[in-house]
Amino acid sequence: TCMNSVGPPGSGKGTQSPLIKDEYCLCHLATGDMLRAAVAAKTPLGIKAKEAMNKGELVSDDLVVGIIDEAMKKPSCQKGFILDGFPRTVVQAQKLDDMLAKQGAKVDKVLNFAIDDAILEERITGRWIHPSSGRSYHTKFAPPKTPGVDDVTGEPLIQRKDDTAAVLKSRLEAFHMQTEPVIDYYSKNGLVANLHAEKPPKEVTVEVQKALQ
Ligand code: AP5
Ligand code: ZN
Repeated sequence: TCMNSVGPPGSGKGTQSPLIKDEYCLCHLATGDMLRAAVAAKTPLGIKAKEAMNKGELVSDDLVVGIIDEAMKKPSCQKGFILDGFPRTVVQAQKLDDMLAKQGAKVDKVLNFAIDDAILEERITGRWIHPSSGRSYHTKFAPPKTPGVDDVTGEPLIQRKDDTAAVLKSRLEAFHMQTEPVIDYYSKNGLVANLHAEKPPKEVTVEVQKALQ
């Protein structure tokens, strides 16, 4: 099984994808989370990715395709995966098709988190994340039980470096220019389920469940 979550920054990919992962026992592969971990650990990959990420630009296709190719081979991912934030260019989508074909698999569903740009600044600037798990919270829409602290581990929450109004503009530009064509790419195969991502989280979850039935 391979399901993709596609949508602009703040549309809810990282909020909904772990729920799908739990329900279907899939592996959750979020390229943004993996890249942030690499940046924090100052690995060669992280050093190469850092500048583009801080500017809100996409990291090169080769780097992210390499990460996904490696992650897909992990034993824990053999039942399938939910991809979050990948593919983000048509080249990445084509490479994903090739990688899956080698395993006799294919993309089963693409969840399109459709939402108006105007809603996203409030979501992005109010977000707090637990870096090691990727769990996200929001001061207004999804507050943690204790401010600044992860509900599960009790560890501190942080804000992402790219979660500013200014960098959001670049991220949105990258989404419209480079990632929207990915939705068209999958539409041709009838794989896309359009979600009303502006609704409250629980209502979006219901739409996701319907789309995957
Ligand atoms: P990435 O980490 O993927 O960031 P993104 O796509 O910008 O998406 P976000 O994580 O900001 O949003 P989300 O949809 O997950 O929202 P969330 O659920 O957290 O990528 C970061 C960077 O890495 C990129 O800019 C690029 O440089 C690089 N990169 C990553 N993948 C790449 C690739 N494939 N190719 C090249 N470069 C790549 O929700 C946001 C907030 O809203 C949270 O606070 C949440 O609590 C709240 N919220 C969620 N749902 C709702 C709701 N329904 N109602 C109200 N609030 C909600
Ligand atoms: Zn995310």
